[in-house]
Amino acid sequence: MNGPGADARGRHTENCMHEDGTTEAGSLRSLALGARDAAYAPYSGFRVGACLEAADGRYFVGCNVENASYPVTMCAERVALGAAVAAGARQFRRIFLCTDADSPVAPCGMCRQALAELSPELEVESESGSGDRASWKLSDLLPERFALLRPVSGSVSGSVRGDTR
Ligand code: THU
Repeated sequence: MNGPGADARGRHTENCMHEDGTTEAGSLRSLALGARDAAYAPYSGFRVGACLEAADGRYFVGCNVENASYPVTMCAERVALGAAVAAGARQFRRIFLCTDADSPVAPCGMCRQALAELSPELEVESESGSGDRASWKLSDLLPERFALLRPVSGSVSGSVRGDTR
C-alpha cells in the first residue's frame, strides 16, 4: 500500500495510539502486549508477543519461548498458531505482533510459511517498542509459499475445514 502513511517499501506505517488511547486493533494489541510481557527470551533479550484473530472472532496469543539449545526456540507467531489450531480454529483474519525493537518487525520466514498454510491472505500488523506500526498482507511477505496437493479427502486430521482450494 502506498500513499499517506506508507513508506517507500509500501508498508503502512503509523503511530499506534489515537488521542483517547484506543487503537483500531485495541484488543488484539493489548493481548499481544500482554503476551510480550510473558515472553521467555533470556538468550536474545528480544521479546515478541503475538495475537492471532480467528475468522470466528476468537483471539489466540503466543510469545517466544527460547531454549538453551537455541534452535529449539519457538517464535511467538507459531505458538499462537498452535494454540489456535488446538482449539479448533482453522481460518484467520489477522495477526498483531509487538516487540521492544526500534521499528516494527515482520515475521521470520518460518513463521510466514506456517501462517500461510491456513491463511495465505492474513493481515499482519506489527508494532515497535515506541508504538510505530507497519502492516502487510502475508501473501506479499511470502508470495510463493510452499504447498503440497490438497490433503487426502475424508482425513479428519488432515482436512482443512472451510478450505476451498
Ligand atoms: N522471534 C519471534 O518470536 N518471531 C519472529 O518472527 C522472529 C523471531 C523470536 C525468536 C527468538 O526468541 C527471538 O525472537 C530472536 O530471534
